[in-house]
Amino acid sequence: MISNMKNKADISTMGTPSTRINEKKTLAEKADKFRCYQKSVQSPDHEVEFFEQAFRDIYQRKPYSLREDFCGTFAVCCKWVKSDSERTALGVDLCSETLEWGRANNLVKLSEAQKKRVRLLKQDVRKKNRPQVDVLAAQNFSFWIFKTRSEVIEYFKMARANIKADGIMVMDMMGGGDCQIEGHVDKRVVKKGKRGFRYYWKQDSYNPINHDASFSISFKFKDGSRINRAFEYHWRFWSIAEVREMLAEAGFKESYVYWETEDEDGEDTGKFERRDLVPSAPCWISYIVAVR
Ligand SMILES: C[S@@+](CC[C@H](N)C(=O)[O-])C[C@H]1O[C@@H](n2cnc3c(N)ncnc32)[C@H](O)[C@@H]1O
Repeated sequence: MISNMKNKADISTMGTPSTRINEKKTLAEKADKFRCYQKSVQSPDHEVEFFEQAFRDIYQRKPYSLREDFCGTFAVCCKWVKSDSERTALGVDLCSETLEWGRANNLVKLSEAQKKRVRLLKQDVRKKNRPQVDVLAAQNFSFWIFKTRSEVIEYFKMARANIKADGIMVMDMMGGGDCQIEGHVDKRVVKKGKRGFRYYWKQDSYNPINHDASFSISFKFKDGSRINRAFEYHWRFWSIAEVREMLAEAGFKESYVYWETEDEDGEDTGKFERRDLVPSAPCWISYIVAVR
């Protein structure tokens, strides 16, 4: 999905064309890597709900305009405009292949009225666009592509300029000791049954000196075929403390950390609340919400 990972997917068990003329295609060959990504990585319902919660916590009203930086297949934009007939969404991404997939597979599912409220820009996120928005989201750790403080601060300044005076920026973060173990794999069954598949999120490398980190996503299907390294990411592993300092340097007034709550059995609830102090955990996901 990011520029440095295009066309790298390695579909295993393919064989050479001459040996496979009468063979049936494997499930990996039939699969669509963007569809698998959306099913395993994204929860647009949850994102839209969280953006509203975070905005309401600060302004006690409903947000209407969203900018989704690094939008990829812009599933969140689509969910946003579906959630209210007044809502508008702007999706920004550099990759035309990914945006095109979103048009052909996500945008088409919207009504004509909803489609009119989605605007897409194939451009760098570090550009000023008008009108400004209530909520600017940068999800799935995408700004970690900027590896130096000056690059991140430049991006945050631009993001701030793209937000209304009473607006917010939302970004997710991950961390915990497991994220620093090279070779660590998080696997999940995404869908059971004939069309089910497994999702693998691998920590390929982590350099403790400069925090350069590489990750990849692979998929494995019922017939044993795989799409290896469907997506690769080469990022700087930023910490919450560093990101909050950079937000302040870029001019944001405040920032808050939302941590996932647990039920009485210690199970994650999928709900996030503001926290200043939490116990350490081997692997966590959280949100930072910055007030313009
Ligand atoms: C990790 S994917 C995230 C996709 C989506 N936001 C999600 O939540 O799943 C990162 C996306 O950022 C895009 N991207 C990377 N650098 C960018 C930049 N400087 N400006 C705009 N888009 C960029 C890539 O094309 C890719 O689609």
